[in-house]
Amino acid sequence: MEPFKIKAVESIPFTSRAEREAALKEAGYNLFSVPSSKITIDLLTDSGTSAMSDRQWGALMVGDESYAGSRNYYRFEDTVRRITGYKHIIPLHQGRVAENLLFSSCVQQGDHVPNNIHFDTTKANIEHNGGKAIDCVIDAAYDPQAEIPFKGDMDLAKLDRVLAAVGRERIPLVLLTITNNSGGGQPVSLNNATEVSSWCRRHRIPFFYDACRFAENAYFCKARGRLDDDIPTIARRFFDLADGCTMSAKKDGLVNMGGFVALNDDGLAEKVTNMLILIEGFPTYGGLAGRDLEAMAQGLEEVLDERYLAHRIGQVRDFGHALRDAGVPILLPVGGHAVYLDARRFLPHIPQEQFPAQALTCALYIEGGIRAVEIGGLMFGVGDTWPALELVRLAVPRRVYTKSHLDYVVQTATRLFENRDTIRGLRITYQAPVLRHFTAQLKPVE
Ligand code: F0G
Repeated sequence: MEPFKIKAVESIPFTSRAEREAALKEAGYNLFSVPSSKITIDLLTDSGTSAMSDRQWGALMVGDESYAGSRNYYRFEDTVRRITGYKHIIPLHQGRVAENLLFSSCVQQGDHVPNNIHFDTTKANIEHNGGKAIDCVIDAAYDPQAEIPFKGDMDLAKLDRVLAAVGRERIPLVLLTITNNSGGGQPVSLNNATEVSSWCRRHRIPFFYDACRFAENAYFCKARGRLDDDIPTIARRFFDLADGCTMSAKKDGLVNMGGFVALNDDGLAEKVTNMLILIEGFPTYGGLAGRDLEAMAQGLEEVLDERYLAHRIGQVRDFGHALRDAGVPILLPVGGHAVYLDARRFLPHIPQEQFPAQALTCALYIEGGIRAVEIGGLMFGVGDTWPALELVRLAVPRRVYTKSHLDYVVQTATRLFENRDTIRGLRITYQAPVLRHFTAQLKPVE
């Protein structure tokens, strides 16, 4: 059961099918453009959507809004240093700013940056700095039905191939995303992180985590990898292997806004800090209010509670298994923060160029006012090149929905699966040059 009880509630909107059809049409068949007042269950993202605890709300009242040297910064710095062990702790307002600052400080034209699978903003920020983002996850990650425990692991042979092709001077850093969001929220094993770390040490290449969901990853290592250590110790064993991390605290920081870069290298920290002052703010607030830093420090402590994590990972797993048991095709095993529908198996009659995952996302909304996100051809397709996976992510916000909310989603998706032949594909009528999925406009194919 939930290791918490509910102290404040928020009503959720209910709409008619006709209202949803009109809203979707007006939004150009893109759920990012539908107002949240027309969404019943919002599974668009687990990012920035967590419910804060009473202690976090209390933290907001002890904000010290001094421009420099706020006491909240020092608590935040202590907390992050205790968790990660890194020397320089640089607060920011969200993860992609961490990516922007880090990559603009170390990635140059023609550089190659390997990762298990880059998140969309990570890839875009590397490319914005002239680099090439390379995915080196194990092949099994691309098989939605391969049930292996650590499907987020990096393939070392793929790292070797990148190295052989471009040389170590062209690899400014190696990233490892824990858990691997774009591959299904799949964990990375401690063994694999250890291997990646020694590979990087051997070739004198810096090693960083994209650590948004580091606590969920640590819980998987405990549960699936049968590690005896407690969660903070497992998390620390990961961090000890690397030179730093980027973090969107909107996930495992349990806050609605926040993030950081943490790293050991003095020279790199100086470059990041100088850019920070230019675009984000003074180093002891980094684009956040003092109260936000306090709430983030509190959230980072709460997220390491094993009871919380057992509930969190268990809730997402039970949600996924209920869909699987109803015959709905999902990516297995179930990941940490979301259940991913396999749109290619759900809608085999819709060809790739008609965006089956986006069509399924729209159909879920029409059927039940549920908002999910496409992670497939609309997000990652370039010209006629399509990504290996065509998924619809049902991301579960932390501490927000109960079992009956998720049961409703299971019933809706099951009904939709039974009537899947009625779902039609989509074509694009407008797209931006980068990160097109956020603002693209589409129309149903006649
Ligand atoms: N890295 C990963 C693995 C992420 O999942 C995200 C965000 C970011 C970086 C960027 O962080 O949003 O704070 O700037 N993921 C959200 C999602 C948006 O829905 O998965 P941000």
